[in-house]
Order: sequence, then structure tokens, then C-alpha cells
Amino acid sequence: MTRTRRVVTAIVAAGALMAPMACGDDDDNGGGSGSASGKVEVFTWWAEGSEKAGLDALVEVFNDQYPDIEFVNGAVAGGAGSDAKNVLASRLQTNDPPGTFQAHAGAELTDYIEQGQIEDISGLYEENGWTDYFPEPLLERLTVDGAIYSVPSNIHRANVVWANPAALEKAGLDPAAEYETLDDWIADLEKVEDAGLIPLSIATDWTQVHLLETVLLADLGVEGYNGLWDGTTDWAGDDVKEALADYDTLMGMTNQDRQSLDWPDATQLVIDGDAAFNVMGDWAVAAFEEQGKVLDTDYLAYPVPGTQGVFDFLADSFTMPVGTPEPDSTEAWLDTLASPEGQEAFNKAKGSIPANVEADTSDFGPYQQTAIESYAQDDIASSLAHGAAAPISWLTDITSAVAKYGSTGDVDGMQSDLAAAAEKALG
Ligand code: GAL
Repeated sequence: MTRTRRVVTAIVAAGALMAPMACGDDDDNGGGSGSASGKVEVFTWWAEGSEKAGLDALVEVFNDQYPDIEFVNGAVAGGAGSDAKNVLASRLQTNDPPGTFQAHAGAELTDYIEQGQIEDISGLYEENGWTDYFPEPLLERLTVDGAIYSVPSNIHRANVVWANPAALEKAGLDPAAEYETLDDWIADLEKVEDAGLIPLSIATDWTQVHLLETVLLADLGVEGYNGLWDGTTDWAGDDVKEALADYDTLMGMTNQDRQSLDWPDATQLVIDGDAAFNVMGDWAVAAFEEQGKVLDTDYLAYPVPGTQGVFDFLADSFTMPVGTPEPDSTEAWLDTLASPEGQEAFNKAKGSIPANVEADTSDFGPYQQTAIESYAQDDIASSLAHGAAAPISWLTDITSAVAKYGSTGDVDGMQSDLAAAAEKALG
């Protein structure tokens, strides 16, 4: 029997054990067998601050649903998995997989599938009734050749500007101003600069890629942006050149110490009023809320100018690694993760939207209500910096080009590097 076959058999057996509880019997917590035992190492990059608070909330539900399975925290710090992904890659290469690991829906997940590193868990979806929990378009992003490979935990939005109204007033700006385009926004960023505040806070390389993706989205529009990933938009063309010129202008208005910061530090500059604006995914809302800040009073949140009506999408999901030591414990984790209870607790704390349509979001915060509304009606684009749009190897090359620009300031050189990266990825 092959390793894969053995794992699947074990999963099926464990699934059979759990099935009665998943259908709801005397377990008030809504999922889990409660009788399974063992341990599960959960590998994420949610190691600190508000991200860890989200993970902790999920672990609490897991401990309730599966009291005899030990949660082992395998988190490796570094936003967007900037360090975790390398650690994970070497563990997978040396056949030392964790119980489960975080992987973004979309192209990043496809990387792991193609390398034979994660199991097809379609059978678990059927046995445990998970299929009904998730909307079809989301499941499609987790499916390859008809098989589903992970359980989504959340949906995040990447194209959000966070602003400090007090800082804007200090710079003589109207916090209620709405910016239609990047140009309108840049005009006000210049005024912030004149007032001696940081116009736009940013952190290390991946946050710069994150900013770049939103600028590309603003300037190219959804269709043009999508075309970057299938070769129909020319990375060496004039449209990208103009977008990169805007990126260059924006980067010229960021904090000097960016390379030594990660996203929480850059967001903190806005929370503290040292910076007027920050572009970050909506996990940032959890940092504002954690510090008691109130939307529309202490901070503002809106789509990056030029991306109104677009939801720049990403989703975290969790896998069953090939060769994982205790597949039944992994299944238990995935079961809690899929459940409405798990998704409510996790997403409320994390700032994201539940992937599970049965989760109750009525007591989610005001920012999250806007995200729920936008996700339902906006055009959806796939995030580059967070694994939805491009495979890891391409993202790595783009990150190198962006980092190189960050130290040389050579914007034409960046365009050539980005065009070469696209050529390499698309052939
Ligand atoms: C993303 C991830 C989010 C959040 C963010 C910052 O890649 O999907 O859940 O953790 O990184 O670390």
C-alpha cells in the first residue's frame, strides 16, 4: 500500500469515528468526536499580536471540541509567511511535515499539490459535510483536477487604506475626503509630507509587494491586473510603466526605516498618529481593535484609491500534509476549522470574513461588516503578495525585483526585472 493510500485509509477510518458527532448529537459545541486523542502541530505564521489572538480563539474552540487532542503551536514569526514558508519548504523536503500547515488558496496551494506535498481531502469533505459550508467559487480555488486539497479558514481583503483622522487634520486635510484616483490621493500625501508627518507607512519587502499589487490594481483595473498573471498584460508595456511611476512616487513618501519593520509596526505608526496612511490587508483591523480604537473616530478604512468596487482577495487554508504523523488529529483540527463555531471565533478576532457561510457574523465589528458587504458585491481580484495570483517561485522573483528597487531606486530596472520574472514564470 502506498503512503498516500495508507493516509487516506486512516483518514477514512477517523472520519467514520467522527461522523456521528459532525451530524450533531449530544455535543453542544457543534462538532468533533471528543474521543479522539493524540496531538497536532499546527504550522502558521500567526506568532504574535492580533494574529496570534486569532489563532488562540480558534484553539479555544478546538480544545472544547477535541479535549484529548493536544494543540502544538508550530508558528514561525514573520508577516505573510516571509520566514515560515522557507522553514516549511525545508521541512517538507526532509519528510518532516507538521500536522497541518497554512497555505493560501489559489496558486500557492497549487505549488504544494504539484509537488505531491498535500493530500486530496475531497473524501473528508463528503464524510464530514464540509462541502455545504463553503461557497462554490471559494471551493474552486481549493480544487485541482476535481479534488479539494485544503479547508479554508477565512477570507481577507488586501486593498485597504488605513488612515488616522487626527493626523490628517494636523496636516490640514479633511478626513472625510474621498479619493477617486491615486493621483488625488498622492496630492494629499504631499501635504502630509509638508506637515512633517510620515505620509504612508510601510515595512519590509513583502509589504512593499503588497503596496505594489494594489497600485497595479488601481492603475490597470481588474482586467488589466488579471492579465498580468496569464500573459495578456505586458509587464514591459506602458501601462505597467505608469503604474510603477506611481509606485515610485508613493515609495518616496514612506518611512526610511521600513526594512527593519514588519506590518504591525507600520500599522502602529498610523495607530499612533505618526503616519497618516498605511496600505495593509484587513488583518490590520484586529490591531486597531485590540487597542480599543473605533472605526470612523480613531481610524478610517477604505479601498485603495482607484480600486473602489474591487475586493482584492486572499484566503488562508489548512492542509493534510503527505506523511503527516497523526492524520486523525489533523482531521480533527480541520473539522474544528471548518465548523461554524471555529470560524466565528477565529474570524471575529482575526479581522477576516468567515469562509463558512453558516457562521454567524452578526456581532462582528463595523469594519468586518463592510468587508462582508463588499465581498458579496464587488469584482474579485486575486492577491499577489498572499499567494492567490502567482506561484511561490514567481512571487519570490517579484519580491527580489521590488527589494532591489527599494535599495537602488531604479524604477526602469524594476520594470525589466518584473518583465523577466513574468517571462520565466509564463514561458
Ligand atoms: C497573510 C495571511 C493573513 C495574515 C497576513 C499577515 O499572508 O493570509 O492571514 O496573517 O499574511 O501576516
